[in-house]
Amino acid sequence: MATLGLFLAVLVVQNASLILSIRYVRTLPGERFFATTAVVMAELLKGATCLLLIFLQKQGGGAGLGRGLGRVGYVDTLKLAVPSLIYTLQNNLQYVAISNLPAATFQVTYQLKILTTAVFSVLMLRKSLSRLQWVSLLLLFTGVAVVQVEQGQVGGGSSPGAAQQSYAVGLVAVVVSCLSSGLAGVYFEKILKGSSASVWLRNVQLGIFGTLLGLLGMWWAEGAAVAAQGFFHGYSPLVWGVILNQAFGGLLVAVVVKYADNILKGFATSLSIVASTVASMYLFGFRLHPPFALGAGLVIGAVYMYSLPKAGPPLAAPMDGA
Ligand code: C5P
Repeated sequence: MATLGLFLAVLVVQNASLILSIRYVRTLPGERFFATTAVVMAELLKGATCLLLIFLQKQGGGAGLGRGLGRVGYVDTLKLAVPSLIYTLQNNLQYVAISNLPAATFQVTYQLKILTTAVFSVLMLRKSLSRLQWVSLLLLFTGVAVVQVEQGQVGGGSSPGAAQQSYAVGLVAVVVSCLSSGLAGVYFEKILKGSSASVWLRNVQLGIFGTLLGLLGMWWAEGAAVAAQGFFHGYSPLVWGVILNQAFGGLLVAVVVKYADNILKGFATSLSIVASTVASMYLFGFRLHPPFALGAGLVIGAVYMYSLPKAGPPLAAPMDGA
């Protein structure tokens, strides 16, 4: 499907630019914005955009919109609270991880989410994977491990603000993000494909919970500082750009998950490693060491191997779609 290919290509570019722009705004000298407020704003924007899309799509404007929302019950809406909670945690952790790790290291290590997504897809959606696909997942894990060992030896990187960065904190944040990404993504896929409600409506529901939970997270983590300095403290046009990019990325992910699945989405974002590594070299003075190149090569090779046509009997439960 050509349109799906286009969405995947846009996702690659969006993903790479999001990581790089977050890294850039978080390592700039001067006043830092509150990451928790940025998460809230992205959810709000995403939900509002989807609400507008539903409004524009429905004939009869407001009445049509009311009917569309009314068709979905409270219990159904509450189901979205689960992936929303996990995504809110993940989106906050993403800021922690990117603030503490060089962009390229984050990007490669974050590919472990392909492994968690595959495991959750097998467990929750009863998908099956061929032997070659499991091998490719191991290769992926090896590639990520090689990059990590190499980064551990060379330290946190030579970017501005490196002194306040902690490799260990970044690593824990990225590992928990990988678990969240797999679980929330597959959970959302299950809800999306298990009913006829539109992807936009699902995102409005996700956005409502995301905004509320994001506000709760903000109050818990940075409440006093936000109260003292203001919600929009440190916001620059670039920060708004990051927020817009995050909201747009959420919509792209939803569309890709609807028309393909989370595993394919993972491959698309893996390709953004190449883009962000090359860009990091220019933007942040990231030096490409041979082990990093080897690890990144393994990750890309694994992505290719995973996507090869299936041969031989599957190792898990019967498939319900590719
Ligand atoms: O890294 P990963 O691909 O799991 O990130 C998915 C991102 O997409 C998260 O930031 C999540 O909040 C967002 N998303 C969204 N709406 C969806 C699905 C994902 O905003 N329906």
